[in-house]
Amino acid sequence: MSTVGYSAPRNPLRLYGLPTLILCIYVIVISIALTQWIAQNFGYHSSLGETFFREYYLPWKWIAWTQIYHSAYQTFFQKVFVLLFVSFMGICFLLLIFLVRARKLSEGNKSLHGTAHFASEEEVKKSGIYRQDKGVFVGAYQKNFMAKKEYLKHNGKEHVFCFAPTRAGKGVDLIIPTLLSWTGSVFVLDIKGENFALSSGWRKYHAGNHIIKFQPNCNDGTGSRFNPFEEVRLNTAFAYTDMDNIINIVAAPEDPKAKIDPHFDPLAKTFLVGCALHWMHEYQEHGELFSLPALNTEISSDDIDGYLEAMTTKAYTDASVNIAKQMKERRKSGGREAASIVSTAQRYLRLYNDPVVAQNVCKSDFKITDLMRADKPVSFYLLIPPNQIGRFSPITRMIIDTIIQRLASEMEFAGGEVKDNYKHRLLMMLDEFPAFGFMPNFETAMAFIAGYGITAYIIAQDRIQLRKTYTAEQTITTNCHTHIAYPPNEKDTAKYISEMTGETTVIKKKITTSGSRSALYAGRMSISTDEIKRPLLTPDEVSRLTPPVKNADGKILKGGEMLIFQQGKPPIRGKQVLFFQDPVFLARSKVMAPERGDKIS
Ligand SMILES: Nc1ncnc2c1ncn2[C@@H]1O[C@H](COP(=O)(O)OP(=O)(O)OP(=O)(O)O)[C@@H](O)[C@H]1O
Ligand SMILES: [Mg+2]
Repeated sequence: MSTVGYSAPRNPLRLYGLPTLILCIYVIVISIALTQWIAQNFGYHSSLGETFFREYYLPWKWIAWTQIYHSAYQTFFQKVFVLLFVSFMGICFLLLIFLVRARKLSEGNKSLHGTAHFASEEEVKKSGIYRQDKGVFVGAYQKNFMAKKEYLKHNGKEHVFCFAPTRAGKGVDLIIPTLLSWTGSVFVLDIKGENFALSSGWRKYHAGNHIIKFQPNCNDGTGSRFNPFEEVRLNTAFAYTDMDNIINIVAAPEDPKAKIDPHFDPLAKTFLVGCALHWMHEYQEHGELFSLPALNTEISSDDIDGYLEAMTTKAYTDASVNIAKQMKERRKSGGREAASIVSTAQRYLRLYNDPVVAQNVCKSDFKITDLMRADKPVSFYLLIPPNQIGRFSPITRMIIDTIIQRLASEMEFAGGEVKDNYKHRLLMMLDEFPAFGFMPNFETAMAFIAGYGITAYIIAQDRIQLRKTYTAEQTITTNCHTHIAYPPNEKDTAKYISEMTGETTVIKKKITTSGSRSALYAGRMSISTDEIKRPLLTPDEVSRLTPPVKNADGKILKGGEMLIFQQGKPPIRGKQVLFFQDPVFLARSKVMAPERGDKIS
């Protein structure tokens, strides 16, 4: 929108009238003073001519007197010339002030539509992320190509969100440098296993971390195992809640828009909770470990009536007795409804029919609480092959949800303040986060987990990917304090990032001439300015941010640009970090990864 005719700054009286008046007054005052001073020095001699009033002469008399007497009284008139010169300098000074003022006024109002701008060097230095010792990498800042690249690290507990299309360099730029320097515990979604390969060696042998390498399809015994049922506090009042949470996660739909059967879905979940509590006690009695694959095997038994009977007679928990009784009633009245409940429950546990997956979830080599409370920080790498992201997403979601539920449950207060009841902060590095499906509990938990020392670093390809998994009303981005954006491939994301840069006002000068060309010299020219609103970067400019320079093999030779947004601060036009160009990170990345994951407890 243009505001042609925004007239206040261009009022001609303000622009020219006031300076002319001030100049006239200045010249008159100087003339009066000079004339009277000369007259006084000549003793008001009659040869000076008639006075105008008492001893006062007309102000411009000094001009005539100088012409007539300067050759006869050279020494005196030298002083007059000095005074004239000083006065002339005064006029020049006033003219200069007026010129600057006129220019400013004719420039228009630069903040009329917004004052968005990129952070200046000073603002970057004050941003709180410049040259920090600790924290997660959010980019680098380089004032110009001659200047040194300074790292930008966010050390607050607030979450970080990054939009990065594939092959943008988010791994070499943000993830690897963070993993090669973060001193607390870390949970990493590691899609190709490259984060484990490049950072676990340094984290284990130099940063003294326990290393958990969990890979659902690991078949060589080198991976760590995780059995969520070992997180259930059996024989306590929390047993039902813990089991209910796990079953809810196991049975959660991957897609928020997926149709859930309003009848069978809750019944199947309740059935699973009752059965799981019963068999967990039963297995415990026999000194065996109960697991999700075991639950799958038990509920799939042909003798449904037999195990329902055992659930009521053994009566380990009230919940399992009640649930078994209800199922028995359903079996009596035809049995089709009960069969549907069992088959729905079996569908939730389908993944655990895979013997490789089953062996990785039959026992735990660590406890979730170890992540924040073990003697040493823990690095938990969840390795998922890229072609099996969808298939293993139930396990991924189960682990992430269990982490949130176990670690963000009890808050302690001391002296009116929240007391940190953990030894190590936990960073959740969630690359390709939306690809793992809908995690409603995590989305809700983002609003409060920072208070428990958990910081999420979420990476998504673009808005479409995020919206597809989390709907348009998602609150993931709004719960993040720092946002990073690489040049997007997709229009909607470019528009969104452009909006994030804010609105700025640009001044457009318009020169209008009237008459012939020579009229320019006759002063018949007018300059008007329009204040125009535009985003600091248009969607097109966002898409055209400098990409990294790559050679024919796709290796990065020179880092590209990215934008860094912090709440309430001007955006930073940042540069890629590129760990392999930093000798310290390069050396750390070369430390050999451990052959197998650790057993903590
Ligand atoms: N040591 C290195 N030297 C130069 N370039 C490298 C090096 N390691 C990786 N690259 C380049 O970095 C680019 C990809 O980096 P990275 O893996 O961080 O991207 P990404 O955004 O994580 O990609 P993806 O979406 O595939 O996970 C590739 O072009 C790759 O060739
Ligand atoms: Mg990557």
